[in-house]
Amino acid sequence: MSLIKLENVSQIFGFGDATTVALDQIDLDIKKGEFIAVMGPSGAGKTSLLNILGLITPPAKGLHTFLDQEMMRMSQSHLAKLRQQHIGFVFQKHNLLPNLTILDNVSLPLLYSVNLGFLKRVEIVKRLLSRLGIHKKEFLYPYQLSGGQIQRAAIARALISQPTILIADEPTGNLDSSNSQLVMDILQGVNKEGLTIVIATHEPALTKYADRIIYLKDGCVRVDQKLRKNQQIDLGKIHDAIKKQDMRRKNKQESAGDKEGASPAAKTAKVRKAKVRKIRNKK
Ligand SMILES: Nc1ncnc2c1ncn2[C@@H]1O[C@H](COP(=O)(O)OP(=O)(O)OP(=O)(O)O)[C@@H](O)[C@H]1O
Ligand SMILES: [Mg+2]
Repeated sequence: MSLIKLENVSQIFGFGDATTVALDQIDLDIKKGEFIAVMGPSGAGKTSLLNILGLITPPAKGLHTFLDQEMMRMSQSHLAKLRQQHIGFVFQKHNLLPNLTILDNVSLPLLYSVNLGFLKRVEIVKRLLSRLGIHKKEFLYPYQLSGGQIQRAAIARALISQPTILIADEPTGNLDSSNSQLVMDILQGVNKEGLTIVIATHEPALTKYADRIIYLKDGCVRVDQKLRKNQQIDLGKIHDAIKKQDMRRKNKQESAGDKEGASPAAKTAKVRKAKVRKIRNKK
């Protein structure tokens, strides 16, 4: 069953010559229960994509359907409600509030949705923290935790409202390999219980936890493929396949008399301006 659909979705930032096409006519269909790894070089558009999926930033253009509802028509307050009910988000920088204890940080989303007494809140948070292997840390502040513990607290905060989808932007970005593995085991555990997961990562080793990989380059989806159980992708093969695609496209354009031969990687200012015009004109 389809959870999220993006059709012809583009994202742009900035103005004039400084305009960046962060996402360029993306089509995606995310099904309930999937575990998707979004990969691609720095600046490829991973965070921009995750922010759209997480209802944080609306796309500049295109159709975005979440739970069969068209997002572009929604009011800010309705979007906030959907976010609160259905989306757990782990930011690229963990975003825990430094002046709140781990208990208050993790239970923050609950304050907006349910009216729980202090003891009940402590009990729920304690149970979740202990599941994530960081029990007895609830009364500490973020600066008193290690990087791996903070990241697990950020995941706890994203899971506390029992979301429909967990979106995590490089959840293991600053962690050593054993902490990365711990975090990924946790994500795999909740995915097995039915939670849909989308993560952005630079680490090919982590794709063995996912069942699908989406590889972005210059804001375009260049690879979208299912993975076998425990399959770790070979980045070299992906780069070769993309190079071949670009070469074929260039040859085709040249033989059609298009001297510009612009591959996605080599967008000229003219091509970029035309794209931006198209995105801005066709909301
Ligand atoms: N708020 C913004 N204002 C201007 N440009 C932006 C903004 N957000 C993103 N961009 C630009 O959009 C492009 C895609 O950025 P994005 O953060 O999505 O990349 P990324 O794939 O997540 O990179 P990384 O792996 O480094 O996190 C980049 O060129 C970036 O500079
Ligand atoms: Mg990013």
